Amino acid sequence: MNRELHTRIVGVGSYIAEGVLTNKDLENMVETSDEWIIERTGIRERRIAPKQVVTSDMAAHALKQALAAAGLGPNDLDMIICATVTPDKPLPATAAFVQQKIGATSHCASFDIAAACAGFLYGLSIADCHIRLKKAKYIGVIGVELLSRILDFKDRNTCVLFGDGAGAAVVTGDETGRGILSTHLFTDGSLTGILHVPAGGSANPASEHTVADRLHYVHMGGQEVFRYAVRYLSEAAQTALKANQIPPEQVDWVVAHQANIRILNTVSHRVGIPMEKFVLNIERLGNTSSASIPLALNEAIQDGRVKDNELILMTALGGGISWGSALLRW
Ligand code: UT7
Repeated sequence: MNRELHTRIVGVGSYIAEGVLTNKDLENMVETSDEWIIERTGIRERRIAPKQVVTSDMAAHALKQALAAAGLGPNDLDMIICATVTPDKPLPATAAFVQQKIGATSHCASFDIAAACAGFLYGLSIADCHIRLKKAKYIGVIGVELLSRILDFKDRNTCVLFGDGAGAAVVTGDETGRGILSTHLFTDGSLTGILHVPAGGSANPASEHTVADRLHYVHMGGQEVFRYAVRYLSEAAQTALKANQIPPEQVDWVVAHQANIRILNTVSHRVGIPMEKFVLNIERLGNTSSASIPLALNEAIQDGRVKDNELILMTALGGGISWGSALLRW
């Protein structure tokens, strides 16, 4: 039987730092409490990468694991897509460092994408196009963030939320009906101001003032982002289901970006998929931005939760505001 070419994830890997920062630790840094953080976010602790580790180290670790899981080596890769808002340096791409660190060859085109917490889904969607157009055979898609380097540990509105981590997936073509069934991506550029790092780019280059005014850190209008997150994560999930004519009951797992457990509870209710089907890591890892989806996916693969041919719904939203969804048959 001649079946359609889909893009399938054939290996997943992750990097989780050993350093644990608990809510109790944060109580000694800003005016907050373990109770407030748990109740308002669902986060108990997050991981912080050691000082000597840079973003590409974490990404390379995750990608090597994903390659090993797929039974492949670095020379098999035709492309590395690295989704991050915490690159090693503004120039060049973190993906180039990753390419060098895993020992891939120069035919492996390597580049970054900046779609914040939706970055992994954006990367997966770009990879899907290259695979289905047969422009590439194997692609590594990474979501990696070293957010602790751009957090203001004097600002309780943000520093309690985020953690460091990396997840990676290796994708290739498959004609058995398994793989990515659809991806949908969206951006509302009128909302750039509600989640951003104000300085360090062309709009506000680094200066003594930008440093003094703490403008190189993440700034977020939490309540506003919350409102959009609830709405757009749900809508994107529903768009994926509608496009594939799949009722919510048929979804086996939801692997969503994890910013706040209250957001996910509302998405669960709105989309009509119970929380038991959500793969959660927010309690232990906090908000790891573009890494949260591949980190959660890897965990659910490792512990055997996800079985062949099951349906996985992904949805994510972050700075931009950018958001999206993907539906996969595992
Ligand atoms: O990953 C990208 C997408 N990001 C998100 O989706 C994040 C979305 N936003 C959120 O998850 C929530 O808005 C937050 C967790 C950031 C904040 O929770 P909230 O329930 O919306 O709190 P709030 O901003 O409305 O603040 C309520 C109160 C304020 O005090 P007053 O003004 O009522 O006296 C804050 O100053 O809580 C205070 N507050 C804190 N108190 C203790 C804010 N942060 C803290 C804190 N500890 N860490």
